[in-house]
Amino acid sequence: MIRVGIIGLGGMGNMHFGCYQALHGAEVVAIADIQEERLQPGESSLKINIGEGGATIDPDKHRLYTNPNDLINDAEVDLVDVCLPTFLHPEFCKKALEAGKHVLCEKPMALTYGECEEVLKVAEGAPGKFMVGQCVRFFPAYEYLNETVESGRFGRLLQLSLWRGGNPPLWSWENWLLDHTRSGGFLLDLHVHDADFVHYLLGRPRAVCSTGAIGPSGGYDVVDTEYVYDDKMAVRAGANMTLPTGFGFEAHYMAAFEKGCLRFSTSESHGLMEITDQGAHHPELPQKDGYQEEIAYFIRCIENDEVPAMVMPESSAFSIKLAQAEQESIQQGRSVEL
Ligand SMILES: NC(=O)c1ccc[n+]([C@@H]2O[C@H](COP(=O)([O-])OP(=O)(O)OC[C@H]3O[C@@H](n4cnc5c(N)ncnc54)[C@H](O)[C@@H]3O)[C@@H](O)[C@H]2O)c1
Repeated sequence: MIRVGIIGLGGMGNMHFGCYQALHGAEVVAIADIQEERLQPGESSLKINIGEGGATIDPDKHRLYTNPNDLINDAEVDLVDVCLPTFLHPEFCKKALEAGKHVLCEKPMALTYGECEEVLKVAEGAPGKFMVGQCVRFFPAYEYLNETVESGRFGRLLQLSLWRGGNPPLWSWENWLLDHTRSGGFLLDLHVHDADFVHYLLGRPRAVCSTGAIGPSGGYDVVDTEYVYDDKMAVRAGANMTLPTGFGFEAHYMAAFEKGCLRFSTSESHGLMEITDQGAHHPELPQKDGYQEEIAYFIRCIENDEVPAMVMPESSAFSIKLAQAEQESIQQGRSVEL
């Protein structure tokens, strides 16, 4: 049984906690949060735009810390799950890796590529395994897209367009999400999901060409990027986290191949649609939760002593490099080579 300590019991910490509760092979034994009120016994009522976590704190089962360093130094913790605000990821990932722990870190890996390189350096020499929670790689509708590209059953991919967005989130500790100096703005916090998926699916683009707008975080909260590949295909992804409160949250994609296309939206009751010259149908997707799949995958990697090949740390770091290049492209009004 892998003993887990979660640092940061906010929106995502709760979500991860709920996932561990439903998993075999791992159990939460410790939680750290700077806010003591987050560590009260009982079920959490925290709710964020992707749902409720369902964490239940039981002081008989969970050691509770207000100082995250105490959790990192807890000898009974094997895996440290970093669900802290993004600007704190590098510091605590490095500390936990140096302490010999396995580390799962929420996305995005860090605010800058330079910080990612520092974490990679520590991870390389550390005994524990390290993975960033690139959850979209585990979402069934995105796995379906990946399988469709890989199998080639519809021929070549000609065009891919991904988008996600919603209204500015208001749940975060000290409102850090709405401070681009701590969150990177929603270009980094939100759009990085699709930037990550683009290069996971299609490999590294040669260049990016982006436009965008400053939003409530003071950074780029609106972005639209064209990913330039030498193969003849058109790939773009956009995000907008400045929409009215009534909008809620939505993610969608459209993928057009030589012999068919896929359309997916979180706002459609049927979710995914597959269209060919023979007609349209809704493929059955496995009833899996991407967050739980991502965590279960990392636990299996630890149990089997395997590298997390589906989400190598270098690949997560490249997502930050990509997001930085996109920001540079917006600022300079030109495409940026990678
Ligand atoms: N994968 C996804 O779909 C997804 C969704 C939302 C957020 N996230 C990511 O998860 C991370 C956390 O986001 P969130 O929405 O849960 O934020 P949050 O503000 O809800 O939670 C952060 C928690 O960390 C605690 N904290 C802050 N500083 C601390 C410190 N020094 N020591 C201990 N605890 C401290 C806060 O009290 C808070 O409870 C971010 O990197 C975010 O980008 C990922």
